[in-house]
Amino acid sequence: MSQMHSHVDMLAPVEDVGGAAQPLLQVKGLTKHFPVRGELFGARKTVRAVDNVSFSIAKGETVGIVGESGCGKSTTARLLMHLMKRDSGEIIYDGMQVGRALSLRELRRGMQMVFQDSYASLNPRLTIEESIAFGPKVHGMADAAARALARELLGKVGLRPENFANRYPHEISGGQRQRVNIARALALSPRLVILDEAVSALDKSVEAQVLNLLADLKREFGLTYLFISHDLNVVRYISDRVLVMYLGEVVELGPVDKVWDAPAHPYTRALLAAMPSSDPDKRTEVPPISGDPPNPIDPPPGCRFHTRCPFAEPLCAKATPQLTTLDSTGHQAACYMAIPGSGHSRAPAREEEAA
Ligand SMILES: Nc1ncnc2c1ncn2[C@@H]1O[C@H](COP(=O)(O)OP(=O)(O)O)[C@@H](O)[C@H]1O
Ligand code: SF4
Ligand SMILES: [Mg+2]
Repeated sequence: MSQMHSHVDMLAPVEDVGGAAQPLLQVKGLTKHFPVRGELFGARKTVRAVDNVSFSIAKGETVGIVGESGCGKSTTARLLMHLMKRDSGEIIYDGMQVGRALSLRELRRGMQMVFQDSYASLNPRLTIEESIAFGPKVHGMADAAARALARELLGKVGLRPENFANRYPHEISGGQRQRVNIARALALSPRLVILDEAVSALDKSVEAQVLNLLADLKREFGLTYLFISHDLNVVRYISDRVLVMYLGEVVELGPVDKVWDAPAHPYTRALLAAMPSSDPDKRTEVPPISGDPPNPIDPPPGCRFHTRCPFAEPLCAKATPQLTTLDSTGHQAACYMAIPGSGHSRAPAREEEAA
């Protein structure tokens, strides 16, 4: 991207090693459990926050993660950023193992994150220009060059540097602070930006403006996004592919249109049905998800959704259904009804049986 800013220096982006065909990020079997004390007699329990999660993100793609509060979205993001230690699993950035071929320091440039709380990443005692310049300076850029870059990026996120550079975080609105956080992330020339509920705290009109800004920046800087939100409308708008998480597991994954038009997992169907439609003709009277609210502490064995699923059969409680590829678009679901020959009464026959 340096060629687009000939008058301003940027840090060189972490090099594209594998070319377009190699995923920017590959996640295999990512797992994080938190030990907690139960309410009763302080018994030891386990929050299975992220459990054997696998997916990949192609270069230039926007992948969304949806699911109810507590399903493990933020923990997944923090693990990818190496902000906390994983129990197990692999995180491979452009074919490179972090800690081996790619240092943690380089990874932290190649992957940046924007959080829901717009104050979280900003030092209240630094001006906005200083906040944006901070990262590049840590990575060796001279003060004057880093400040020039900060001003350039303020313009890119729609904030006139002459009005904003010398202000402090508390002097601007939440939407403006999120623009500053986006500029701060871009200052390190990342290739992947993780947006964890980054627009969720904003008013609807401001949210729409920031979403448009993200789309523009993606194009201009050739970015790849992991976009986390509980808001399905927003995820559909921005994502190419989507992962649906339930109690720490990916239960469905695929192109966003495919998942929305033909959801294969009952949990995805319930989530979509519970979503308020903006089109009054399309509002349906679908009951909300029944059963106990999800609790990631000692989740049920087998399919974790079986306690709430209207289609649960005995096999569902016995073993965990594996994510299974359903078609050539890469649509996958972890539900026995979608797995040919699984033994569920609604499952399609195995191919050899279908003759
Ligand atoms: N540091 C922690 N210690 C104990 N439990 C945690 C910790 N961080 C997250 N959790 C638990 O892990 C589960 C997943 O949380 P989180 O990833 O924040 O979900 P989401 O972002 O989807 O709302 C929740 O039950 C949460 O309470
Ligand atoms: S595996 Fe069984 S319980 Fe789980 S979603 Fe499918 S039908 Fe429902
Ligand atoms: Mg979260």
